Amino acid sequence: MQIKTSEFVISNSDYKKCPEPTKAEIAFIGRSNVGKSSLINILTNKKNLAKTSSTPGKTQLINHFEINGSWYLVDLPGYGYASTSKKNRATWGKMITNYITKRESLISIFVLIDSRISPQKIDLDFINFLGLNQIPFSIVFTKTDKQGTLTTSKNVEEFNKALQKDWVELPKYFLSSSISKIGREEILEEIEHLITYFKQEQKN
Ligand code: GTP
Ligand code: MG
Repeated sequence: MQIKTSEFVISNSDYKKCPEPTKAEIAFIGRSNVGKSSLINILTNKKNLAKTSSTPGKTQLINHFEINGSWYLVDLPGYGYASTSKKNRATWGKMITNYITKRESLISIFVLIDSRISPQKIDLDFINFLGLNQIPFSIVFTKTDKQGTLTTSKNVEEFNKALQKDWVELPKYFLSSSISKIGREEILEEIEHLITYFKQEQKN
């Protein structure tokens, strides 16, 4: 998949106000600060397309970016942002749950997991929520540049082991770094498969 053009379209708190659901879209989600916005910038080769920050909670809305004039990448706010209020968390939950379960043009989600740490309940719970709702997804283990490959492998293995408690078949996963850009090609290739499949289905 070659990304030739990428443009910010709109930010929304309500899935109903998102662009007309006529084009395929792929969303990025994960804990606050895990690197969702950074990954979108790496994929599109634009430093500041999606706003990033070292402070968690930067992305607050559902952000649509139109790619090659024909499909959307969607940057979502992170979950598990500790210093936000209960009310904010509830608003987030509703906004994202509605978007994920009701957005008809959402074809797949990339769930980003921090490759530096052991499995977190909040990530496993979120993945199980996707499973219960039959939402297609894959996993991206981010920030792999921050430690040696052995530590990354150990954490990935532990995460997959934790998933095996609830899942018979493990989801597809990718390793990424916004510094070395590792994973970029593989993720774009996966997106290409997803978009091609969606377009074929639309024709039938
Ligand atoms: P929210 O919008 O707050 O939910 O965060 P986010 O998941 O969009 O994270 P963001 O892309 O803003 O990145 C958070 C911080 O992590 C920033 O300081 C990034 O520069 C840094 N970061 C993101 N990805 C990587 C990575 O692969 N490697 C390293 N070393 N830093 C990264
Ligand atoms: Mg963000």
